[in-house]
Parts: sequence; structure tokens; C-alpha cells
Amino acid sequence: MSAQVHQLSSAISRVAPMLPYRAEITAIQPEAPMVSTYWLRFLDSELSDSYSFQPGQFNMLAVPGMGEAAISISSNPSDHQKVGHTIRFVGNVTNAINRLKVGDVIGVRGPFGTSWPLEQHRGKDIFIAAGGIGLPPLRPVLYQVMQQRSDFGRVVVIYGARTPADLQFTKEYKAWEEAGIELIVTVDRGDDKWTGLVGVVPLMFYRLRMDPRKSVVYTCGPEIMLRFVIFEALARRIPVDSIYVSMERNMRCGLGLCGHCQLGPYFICKDGPVFTYEQLQPYFNVEDL
Ligand SMILES: Cc1cc2nc3c(=O)[nH]c(=O)nc-3n(C[C@H](O)[C@H](O)[C@H](O)COP(=O)(O)OP(=O)(O)OC[C@H]3O[C@@H](n4cnc5c(N)ncnc54)[C@H](O)[C@@H]3O)c2cc1C
Ligand code: FES
Repeated sequence: MSAQVHQLSSAISRVAPMLPYRAEITAIQPEAPMVSTYWLRFLDSELSDSYSFQPGQFNMLAVPGMGEAAISISSNPSDHQKVGHTIRFVGNVTNAINRLKVGDVIGVRGPFGTSWPLEQHRGKDIFIAAGGIGLPPLRPVLYQVMQQRSDFGRVVVIYGARTPADLQFTKEYKAWEEAGIELIVTVDRGDDKWTGLVGVVPLMFYRLRMDPRKSVVYTCGPEIMLRFVIFEALARRIPVDSIYVSMERNMRCGLGLCGHCQLGPYFICKDGPVFTYEQLQPYFNVEDL
């Protein structure tokens, strides 16, 4: 495609947000069984230079003929040239992405949604609780913390996976710890080689000491984990507006138009995915909302 056509398609996407940008897969990094990170570079170099997102936001990734899936951006917000998405292959679109190779082109719409409000939390202790595929939307927070480490108090990450093989980003743990992030990694079931913690994320959260006056909680993962993390945070008297939760629902438009992602009065694509527990509280424990 010529440079003029790229520029035209990018200009159209800006005014017509249902149209995807085209991006090339530059690398595929396996993270765990059925989970890989896809590194993308926009074909339009102007867009590639200017693309920016906030930690916690997501893109709609499109495979022609298969549809779109909402996928969080898992890469460093300061790196505009390569945008990472860590994907668990669960259904139509994600399995179609699994069949793509380096050099293939994919559609991208976004970034969409709200973000983890790290800027507001300078000077605070930040407790991050993530389970399974809930870690990728929080990884951009860790990149930002590492760049501005002295701006924050304690930064604690509790990350849980089903088994040691399911742990993602294992090669980065050392760098996180060297940057002054306290990392607590746990699994539901160990194996012969596992010498680390065994137990669920809320249990590890329960064991932590924290000062509720200066602590904020960011959490993302399976809903059962979210419920118990929130329960433990409230038991520590962390205020409802200091507990931030990233929610998932089926998405279609990503733009607050179709109503597919509704939770109570909110559209998760537009009003979320990151909410305070203060916002979610009335709707969180209601089945099928
Ligand atoms: C804001 C947001 C961010 C997300 N970030 C990521 C990410 O970083 N990495 C990642 O792998 N996935 C992420 N997801 C989940 C991903 O969008 C869904 O798994 C999506 O349905 C996959 O599309 P598919 O066509 O492959 O699967 P589908 O064919 O749509 O569905 C596969 C199965 O998953 C169920 N399902 C569909 N969507 C959801 C959902 N949101 N929650 C629970 N079950 C669902 C379906 O009912 C079905 O059983 C995110 C979702 C949201 C809303
Ligand atoms: S996905 Fe359409 S309103 Fe949220």
C-alpha cells in the first residue's frame, strides 16, 4: 500500500472510529500455554510516531472475516513504536490471531476506555493484585512506576496464576524487583520444581501490612478474585474510592454505542474498564448485570 493510501486510511480512522488502523505483527512472544504477546507496529509511520495510550486502556483487535476482540495494551506507554497485546486464545478472534505470523497485518481500533490513575497517586503506596490474564493491563503501570519510582511510596504486586507454567512475564520479575517493586508471586497448584508461594491472591493480600490512609489498590483478574481482594481491602479500611477495579464484559463497538458491555448504568468500554469500587459497589454482586 502506498504512503498516500496509508495516510488516507489513518485520517479516515480518526474521523470514523469504527474503521481499524492497520498494524503489522513484528514479534510474537509466547508467555504461557495458550497466551502470547503480539508486538504491533502501525503501517502508517505518522500514526506510529503519534500513537499514545494510558495504562489500563484497550484496543479492539480485528482479524478480517473473524471479527474483533477487546485486548488490553500490555506494553510501555512511553514506547510509541511497538504496541504490545498479551492474548489468551479462548475463542473465534483470539484463536484466529493465534494462527497469524510475524509480518501479517491486523486491524486495530483504539485506544479506548479509562485508565489506572497513577498520576493522581504520587506519594501513595500502590498495591496491585492481579490474577491470570489480569496482569497484562497492569504491566504498563509497572513500566511507568519504574520510570518514576521515587514519586511513589511502596509499590507491591501480588500476582497469581493457576500453575507455575501459567505465570506470565517471568523474565521481567528481576527487573521489577531491582526497580524497588515488591513482588509476591503465587500459584494455585505448585509442581515438583516450584519452591514459591501456593495460595490465592486474596490470601496473600490478607497477609500484607498496609496503611489505609495512604494506600490505593489496583486489581484485575477473574471476578471471584476481584470480590475477595475488594473484601480484604475494605477490611483494611481502604476507602471505596481508593480501590480501582478493571472489569471485563463482551464488547462490540468499544465506543459506548451498542450497549453490549453494559454493567448497571455504565458502559464498560467508555466509562471503564477501570472503575473505582465506589462506582461499582451497587452493581458488583448482582448476578447477570
Ligand atoms: C476491556 C477488556 C480488556 C481485555 N483484555 C484482554 C487481554 O489483555 N487479553 C486477553 O486475552 N483477553 C482480554 N479481554 C477478553 C477478550 O476480549 C475476550 O476473551 C474475547 O471474547 C475474546 O474474543 P474471541 O472471539 O477470541 O472469543 P469469543 O468467541 O468471543 O468467546 C470465547 C469465550 O469467552 C467468553 N467471553 C467472551 N468475552 C468474555 C469476557 N470479556 N469475559 C469473560 N468471558 C468472555 C465467551 O462467552 C466464550 O465462552 C479483555 C476484555 C475486555 C472487555
Ligand atoms: S461495546 Fe458497545 S457500548 Fe460498549
